[in-house]
Amino acid sequence: MQYATITGWGKCVPPATLTNHDLATFIDTSDEWIKPRTGISQRHISHVNTSELATVAAQRALAAAGIKGEEIDLIILATASPDTLIPNIASTVQANIGASCGAFDINAACSGFLYGLGLASSQIKSGQSKKVLVIGAERLSFYLDWSRRETAVLFGDGAGAVVVEATDQPGGVLGYELNNDPAGRDILKAGFGTAMDRFNAASLDFYIEFNGQEIFKRAIAGMGKLSNTVLEKCGVDKDEVDLVIPHQANERIIDTLINRMKIPKEKAVVNIANYGNTSAATIPIAICDALEKGLIKPNQTILSCAFGAGLTSAAVLFKW
Ligand code: ACO
Repeated sequence: MQYATITGWGKCVPPATLTNHDLATFIDTSDEWIKPRTGISQRHISHVNTSELATVAAQRALAAAGIKGEEIDLIILATASPDTLIPNIASTVQANIGASCGAFDINAACSGFLYGLGLASSQIKSGQSKKVLVIGAERLSFYLDWSRRETAVLFGDGAGAVVVEATDQPGGVLGYELNNDPAGRDILKAGFGTAMDRFNAASLDFYIEFNGQEIFKRAIAGMGKLSNTVLEKCGVDKDEVDLVIPHQANERIIDTLINRMKIPKEKAVVNIANYGNTSAATIPIAICDALEKGLIKPNQTILSCAFGAGLTSAAVLFKW
């Protein structure tokens, strides 16, 4: 029996920060509006492409796992903001780390990293792969219309990566659940609508738009449902969960989710204040931060859940 265990982790957060106070110098907003509604104080803005952020996070994860790029036998890169659509940017990371293996991008928006982690565990448990690199990386600042305060204040750039390895030691990824609700496709989106829109001048007006209140409700319901399902399928009681690492879209979403699941608030990892919403990168960055703070300890049971455009949702339960 093979188990799929996280053996390495790394993040890459661009050095430039944009605080709520900085934003207030060029759009009609304020720290007083942003912080209590979202939990965000600042976000990082990248001067390099998504694939470069992803490469540095991947190199750090490989170093932490003590393995070389050429030992990786699959690369799964979750992003909604690749620097190139064709080819995928997993191939760029692959070239940069010197791996010789399968490599592909996933676009499941903010749930992408957990989609990747789930698939990586299946690859390993089936015996198909031994060492999988799973990356979440975004440069969402390129997707923003900086004159639209509704979205400009919410997002940030960054990347995180983990190495998932086959081991004989029981533990690692215990189970995962994925879902998508296509009825909600229109409540969170960014142009281009269709490939044909490139012939339409209006489509050059490219920015993220969403219905925040609708997302708020559906995020809590979606993440709660999949979290309960994965716990039930794995036969784990929610009282046995030591830590929850949720997608960081809004601190109030996390508070409400944790509250409804009747899990103590101290068990939730919340780092949105420093990064904003980095979409597919929030969870691997939060894993790194939780490790740096000593919040993750051996043998802990960790629940991670996410929600994003699609409307995707995902939950992964794993032992550290
Ligand atoms: N600064 C100041 N005022 C603002 C800002 C801003 N940045 N943005 C909106 N406002 C104003 C609006 O214009 C509106 O003014 P009005 O009442 O005069 O018309 C007022 O604030 C309230 O606007 P709402 O959009 O109703 O604000 P709401 O309380 O819903 O909060 C928020 C918005 C924080 C986005 C909330 O809906 C939310 O957290 N949604 C879920 C998270 C989310 O949608 N994230 C993006 C999706 S990505 C994902 O990860 C799934």
